[in-house]
Amino acid sequence: MITIALSKGRIFTETMPILKSAGILCAENPESSRKLVFETNNKNVRLIIVRASDVPTYVECGGADIGIAGKDVLDEYQGEGIYHPLDLNIGRCKMMVACKKEFDYKQAVQKKSRLRVATKYSNAASDFFAKKGIHIDLIKLYGSMELAPIVGLADIIVDLVSSGETLKANHLIPVEEVSTITSRLIINKASLKLNNATLKPMIQQFSEAVK
Ligand code: PRP
Repeated sequence: MITIALSKGRIFTETMPILKSAGILCAENPESSRKLVFETNNKNVRLIIVRASDVPTYVECGGADIGIAGKDVLDEYQGEGIYHPLDLNIGRCKMMVACKKEFDYKQAVQKKSRLRVATKYSNAASDFFAKKGIHIDLIKLYGSMELAPIVGLADIIVDLVSSGETLKANHLIPVEEVSTITSRLIINKASLKLNNATLKPMIQQFSEAVK
């Protein structure tokens, strides 16, 4: 049995066509169901639905053989038992620094001022500002980062920006790009050896679907 870990939300609608092109179809729509395990048309393949940030944990620890996770999530994950063989080129967005219009980010960077940064992407934010030689106080949040500058919790945020609507609705502006984010196929290293005959053609089909 091959178990594929997926998450609902941002990348889910783009994930299903990729599975379909690899011949994996699910009779039920996981997006509108509370169930967490879904059979597919292939009796040897099932889907499990987990939180986006838990996908690498499930895959590394063998709870799933393969998974689809954003580069944002993978950069924060410190595990070593997973291969990242394929950029699926879905869920494309940018990780950005953003702040209130009134905050002079450019000047703060020029002066190398100490910055209070709210984010759930601690590794990405720390690396980004370390490279600039800027000291930061990290404020780890798990969602709704946009609130932090509004209520004075932070000077800036590091967060994903897709349409830009969330920033706009909260009167924040993007001021610098940290990186481009896409979703990756990840594979449990041991499973790839053990289930090579099944997984290799599946990865090949995913790869062709991406092209
Ligand atoms: C992300 C991000 C922003 C929003 C940006 O959240 O954290 O809040 O999307 O999208 P936009 O530029 O199109 O408005 P997501 O929906 O992934 O959920 P999260 O809060 O769980 O991170």
